[in-house]
Amino acid sequence: MYHIEVRHLKKYYEVHHKAPGFWGSLRSLVRRETRTVRAVDDISFTVAPGEIVGFLGPNGAGKTTTLKVLSGLLYPTAGEVRVLGFTPHERQPAFLRQITLVMGQKQQLLWDLPAIETLLINKAIYEIPDDEFRRTLDELTELLELGTLLTKQVRKLSLGERMKCELAAALLHRPKVLFLDEPTIGLDVTMQAKVRQFIAEYNARYGATVLLTSHYMADVAALAKRVIIIDHGHLVYDGDLETLVQQVAPYKVITVTLRQSVSPSVLKPFGHVLAANGVKVSIQVPRGTTSRVAARLLQEFAVDDLTIEEPPLEEIIQHVFTGGIREASPDVA
Ligand SMILES: Nc1ncnc2c1ncn2[C@@H]1O[C@H](COP(=O)(O)OP(=O)(O)O)[C@@H](O)[C@H]1O
Ligand SMILES: [Mg+2]
Repeated sequence: MYHIEVRHLKKYYEVHHKAPGFWGSLRSLVRRETRTVRAVDDISFTVAPGEIVGFLGPNGAGKTTTLKVLSGLLYPTAGEVRVLGFTPHERQPAFLRQITLVMGQKQQLLWDLPAIETLLINKAIYEIPDDEFRRTLDELTELLELGTLLTKQVRKLSLGERMKCELAAALLHRPKVLFLDEPTIGLDVTMQAKVRQFIAEYNARYGATVLLTSHYMADVAALAKRVIIIDHGHLVYDGDLETLVQQVAPYKVITVTLRQSVSPSVLKPFGHVLAANGVKVSIQVPRGTTSRVAARLLQEFAVDDLTIEEPPLEEIIQHVFTGGIREASPDVA
């Protein structure tokens, strides 16, 4: 029923550490001192078929560790994990054939050869028949706008071009479940948008399930209706992105273009003035008063344009990381 089921997952790493200096090294030879890193510490969630879920958290929160457990690269310390009904760390061929893990910071393409060579290797590994290979390759070429990139030596591709080829290699076997770990990292804005659009199209076309981590909130906002947020290996939020925004951001931003510029002090009673560049003014107002303030502005000034916006998603997520989810306040006029 669910494509991904995680129940009370824990993944601890035992790390050896030694006291500094010669005597420290000597002592650690005799008695190994270990420390436990609780990378993932009791998290549970489920993901339904076809869902795209943003998996967020600050650096070191445990995202990559979770994705590695889910794709069967790591053995869980405790808890239960099922993906498409399989136990990932058993790494059964039927499981591996239906999932993929893409890590923006790692590459599977062979550096000195054209990407097509890696695709041919994957074709053999996944035992993809010739006709299916050709069909999928045509589709991926179209979706990713690959052109002739696959026949160029990988080392000669730009980062963005290489990422497109990486995605082609990772999706050649048409996996049903995609674990994407920072797939757009380091790409320029245009290429980020292309990769993002590709993920959306792949999801729509194949009904694939996607668990996605990204530092770029534009990726998350464009792709995921639902987000799961973890911090220090604990689950902090699991739910609608929109609901989260409403709960966490206690204010909205009203931007007005006035017919004539006014002194910022005149605007003070309306809220916290964020910026006043001539006739264009941005004011931060409590969420619950947005409509009332907007109406008053329209009444008291000659206004050419007025927009009401949520604060930037980066800011909101940062706020969650630093520990504040509050009750939603209804937007009363
Ligand atoms: N192989 C490892 N050995 C020991 N500690 C690790 C290892 N991999 C990750 N960690 C630690 O586990 C925690 C979670 O790391 P990670 O899953 O990479 O977080 P994220 O992807 O959210 O940045 C961090 O404290 C990290 O230092
Ligand atoms: Mg990571």
